[in-house]
Amino acid sequence: MKNINVSILGTGMIVPVFLENAERSGGYHIRGIWGRDARKAAVYDSKADFTTDDLDRVLQDPETDVIYIALPNSMHASYAVKALQAGRNVMVEKPFAANYAEARQVIQLAEQLGLLVFDMCMTPYHANYRMIPEYLKDLGQVRVVTGILSHYSRRYDRFLAGEVLPVFDPKLAGGTLMDLGIYLIRYVYGLFGMPEHVHYHANIVRDIDTSGILVLDYPQMKASLTATKDASGPSFVLIQCEHGRIMMEGPAGVCHTITVEKDGADMIVLPGPDTGTAMSSELTVFRQMYEDHDPAVRAAYTSDILSVQKILDLAREDAGIQFI
Ligand SMILES: NC(=O)c1ccc[n+]([C@@H]2O[C@H](COP(=O)([O-])OP(=O)(O)OC[C@H]3O[C@@H](n4cnc5c(N)ncnc54)[C@H](OP(=O)(O)O)[C@@H]3O)[C@@H](O)[C@H]2O)c1
Repeated sequence: MKNINVSILGTGMIVPVFLENAERSGGYHIRGIWGRDARKAAVYDSKADFTTDDLDRVLQDPETDVIYIALPNSMHASYAVKALQAGRNVMVEKPFAANYAEARQVIQLAEQLGLLVFDMCMTPYHANYRMIPEYLKDLGQVRVVTGILSHYSRRYDRFLAGEVLPVFDPKLAGGTLMDLGIYLIRYVYGLFGMPEHVHYHANIVRDIDTSGILVLDYPQMKASLTATKDASGPSFVLIQCEHGRIMMEGPAGVCHTITVEKDGADMIVLPGPDTGTAMSSELTVFRQMYEDHDPAVRAAYTSDILSVQKILDLAREDAGIQFI
């Protein structure tokens, strides 16, 4: 099995997590790491064949199979386009793009060029999450889904002090919906598809949502999804059905243990990954898609990316959040 050579754009917080999981997952080799600041890239000198502040060195590197984009949200699409035009497959950090139109542009280009684009939102790749549809079959009509993803962010303290980091910057397509809400959306969309209506009730500070409650309205069920970066709390997803319930402990991106209960009994427990290892699942799925080259699988996959992006757009529109 040949290693997949990955080069990374970005030197921020997510990069060490990616490096650790690529190593754990196996089959990946880190070729280059690019940062606009050469000193920040050089921190990773021992982790890659080269680090650089010269973007073309990475884009034009003939040994690079895949470019992993770990930049602020507003830059995902434009850097994905650059990488695709240079002939590289791309993994894009979540959210895939700032909006639906950008996502569609990237996907269409990848299709034209016969290259793979992959969305690094961890939720749909976990084995225990993928088992849920099987268990739902026995539980009757789903009525209510309640999801909470709370992560009080140290970056929020800095935001309150006046600093605007990318994650809270409307100019960089930031905000809590784009950062955390997306995991809950991906979770619910992956099980129940496109809702009829989307409502987002957000706490907005300096033009950006620091927390909010998203309501996804389906004909026979409702989902209430809360994401907070300005308050702490538990994280879970509870699916309540007419004949039972499914409870997932932990953040929707990680999918810790899932418990299935039918008619008040029959407990089934599906263990999930630990937080630090959660990214390994998606790297395994990426490898599979990269090697299989199955156009039908890729088409279904990109259609999901676009639907999630559409829900994000509708939610922001409902809350009046505009990226400047
Ligand atoms: N999948 C996950 O679990 C997960 C977790 C966290 C984040 N993410 C996603 O990963 C992405 C990066 O997040 P992060 O937390 O790593 O962000 P971060 O720590 O803020 O790092 C952002 C990176 O982008 C660079 N950058 C900022 N502005 C730039 C510009 N104008 N031109 C070029 N480069 C620029 C930064 O360089 P400087 O240091 O020079 O500013 C830094 O290398 C985000 O899209 C986020 O949603 C995913």
